[in-house]
Amino acid sequence: MDISKIKNTIKKEFEEIKNSKELRDFSKKYLGKQGEIRKIFGEIKDMTLEEKKVIGQEINSFVKEIEVEINKIEKTLKQDSLEKIDSSLPPIEIETGHLHPLTQVRREIENIFQLMGFSVLEGPEVEDLWHNFDSLNIPEGHPARDALSLGKTFYLRKNLVLRSHTSPAQTRYMKKLGAPLRIVIPGRVYRYERTDASHETNFYQIEGLMLDENISVANLKGVLERFLQEFFKKKIKIRLRPSYFPFTEPSFEIDMSCAVCSGNGCSACKKTGWVEILGAGMVHPNVVENGGLDPEKWKGFAFGMSIDRLTMMKYKINDIRWFHSGNLKFLKQF
Ligand code: DAH
Repeated sequence: MDISKIKNTIKKEFEEIKNSKELRDFSKKYLGKQGEIRKIFGEIKDMTLEEKKVIGQEINSFVKEIEVEINKIEKTLKQDSLEKIDSSLPPIEIETGHLHPLTQVRREIENIFQLMGFSVLEGPEVEDLWHNFDSLNIPEGHPARDALSLGKTFYLRKNLVLRSHTSPAQTRYMKKLGAPLRIVIPGRVYRYERTDASHETNFYQIEGLMLDENISVANLKGVLERFLQEFFKKKIKIRLRPSYFPFTEPSFEIDMSCAVCSGNGCSACKKTGWVEILGAGMVHPNVVENGGLDPEKWKGFAFGMSIDRLTMMKYKINDIRWFHSGNLKFLKQF
């Protein structure tokens, strides 16, 4: 057996190693359990003891040499691959989500009312008939109670509905907290609607209620004007038009000067300079009484407005259905 010839072949092969895969293959081929070196040991077993000793030692020291070399190569290969990483490259951008525009706007509205001393509260989305209707002076037989008529309420099991407005929270909190009260209640409401650009079966409202001993329509006007100016970040005028809601007397439909054209007339306000924005009024004495309070002593105003509507006006969104469309192109703009 020509040991030096074997050594030369191995050395030559070793010098040609270019990457860690070749290095692994090399180790396996020569040093592995079924590798070439083992085979050599098998071949020398018939030699004399003396010969075995000499060749054995020679092979062992050769194997050690190779192992040392392998370690060295391993290190340089590792170093090379580290150098291939360019640490000056910009990081891969990870896309993060953000709050839905309706949530952003709801929080903004809440903040403004909080600055005016209102507390933010929540009411249940599943309401009983009494709170959703009766307590608000909407008697049985009133058209708003008919699921297919004015109110468009979703009826659940006996006595329960999906609230069709946030107004039931009024009597809930009168009973719970008493008076004086200065609260807003934002939340989801549900209506049996044919959907179109301005109607959804599910949208958000915010209810406002202020009860005290000396409240007038002037307070209502002042609070709402202030709110709208803060919200649209510009001077806004409002006007009250007489209207009808069973839970307020008098009742108003409130318009604001168009935030797009500042009242000059544009397509957003149908050239009128005014946009209808909310319903409001002085709380009906029956409602105060249903809230367990003395209507002679406690008077106040209430209002309800659509958060979806306010968001659409603020960002000039032309269709309410965008909000629940799940369209990322739309959502990423906010
Ligand atoms: N609840 C009414 C609706 O959903 C809005 C409303 C009108 C709320 C007048 C009020 C109010 O508190 O005073 O259409």
